[in-house]
Amino acid sequence: MSDVEPALAQGLEESFGPHLAALCERTARALNACGFTGLLVHSGSALTVFEDDRTYPFVAHAPFKVWVPLSDAPDSFVWFEPGSRPKLILNQPRDYWYKPADLPRGYWVRHFEVLPVPDSAAARAALPRDLSRAAYIGDATAEIAAWAPAAINPRTLMRTLDYDRAVKSPYELACMRAANRLGARGHLAASRAFEAGASEFEIELEFIAACGLREQELPYNPIIALNEGGAVLHYQVLNKRPPRERHSLLIDAGAEFAGYACDITRTHVYRDADFRALIARMDELQQGLCAGVRAGVDWRDVQLKAHEETGRLLKEADLVRCSGEEAVATGVTRVFLPHGIGHLLGIEVHDVGGFMKARGDGDIPRPEGHPYLRLTRTLESGFVVTMEPGIYFIPQLLEGARADDKQASCINWPRVADLMKFGGIRIEDDLAITPAGSENLTRDAFRAVVAGRA
Ligand code: GLY
Ligand code: MN
Ligand code: MN
Repeated sequence: MSDVEPALAQGLEESFGPHLAALCERTARALNACGFTGLLVHSGSALTVFEDDRTYPFVAHAPFKVWVPLSDAPDSFVWFEPGSRPKLILNQPRDYWYKPADLPRGYWVRHFEVLPVPDSAAARAALPRDLSRAAYIGDATAEIAAWAPAAINPRTLMRTLDYDRAVKSPYELACMRAANRLGARGHLAASRAFEAGASEFEIELEFIAACGLREQELPYNPIIALNEGGAVLHYQVLNKRPPRERHSLLIDAGAEFAGYACDITRTHVYRDADFRALIARMDELQQGLCAGVRAGVDWRDVQLKAHEETGRLLKEADLVRCSGEEAVATGVTRVFLPHGIGHLLGIEVHDVGGFMKARGDGDIPRPEGHPYLRLTRTLESGFVVTMEPGIYFIPQLLEGARADDKQASCINWPRVADLMKFGGIRIEDDLAITPAGSENLTRDAFRAVVAGRA
């Protein structure tokens, strides 16, 4: 992170201290409420491939990244005891086969006591002797059990901490703006590759190169679908050859900055004017939904509103013969839009705490008929959510609709048949909720990158 622009570097320098102070304060409150006096968080360990001596790409545990922006420090710990500076116990084995993690540098390091250790015995020795009132979050290994913490992954404590992750600090928002600017660079490069006739695999390479990240540093596996591949919601094929005919690209790909994700989807068309108009109409729908978002809005209502709007779009696009209202009532909109309208975003792309009624426990149920919605909370200033409406031509769901008399009579089947080759459309931006509305992190990032400001 040494090469960030000076204004961003200064912003991170200034905002990390207050961010960490607030994190310490709320963690202290949660520990106290749950009867613990300390918290030990593990970064995770690299997993070895079966009967092999290489490991899977290491992905740090999110509760560790809550504390430190380190994505590549396996077998390390954060130790926090209210009233003291948090400790980073950094695993630095004396290894000449693999390079151990460097001692970290940067805006956040002075806020921690950093203790490099060569192995887990030294990590244990760096901790208080008695952990019998400490909570541990991480993999429940036999070694950790032998350290005898009071509890391993205690549910109420974890849910309390998860609940509070929804509201982002100014520091976290700065990281998410930066992640969006990286993602926007990647998307612009990907759309140029699509125009030039690249394969899915080549588009991914362009995306990654423009973000300046390794594949394992991305917040999720990119979804890069040409043509009918767009109908597979989490398509992962990455064909190495371009298709004979190029119709569309649905790319859902994000980048990460200091451990924080962006989650961006764009749909591109090659030549077809009709499908281009449908994408433009979806963009209008998406922007309309974004405009309705502010603190105090119940996200379940956004989901239901998205279906009303989708009904209208299907009618206007001649994809249904019934009214938009009937398309909603008969479940036809759910055939075309079978996923949730958005979710919390942060350290994890589908961030934690989306259903929680209050700190600690209790879930808010999803609206009936919307089993894939990942957020049911009322929006608060500081939440970051995605807004990702779409329509798809999914063979399995369309077959089901054909077998349902009400749905079958609603759908304009010849029109659907004409559009199958495009797969689908999704448009996804990341919104930071403000009292008066929202800040569209993604659109701002595209504008900044296109204007050469990022
Ligand atoms: N990229 C996964 C999602 O949009 O939820
Ligand atoms: Mn998403
Ligand atoms: Mn996405």
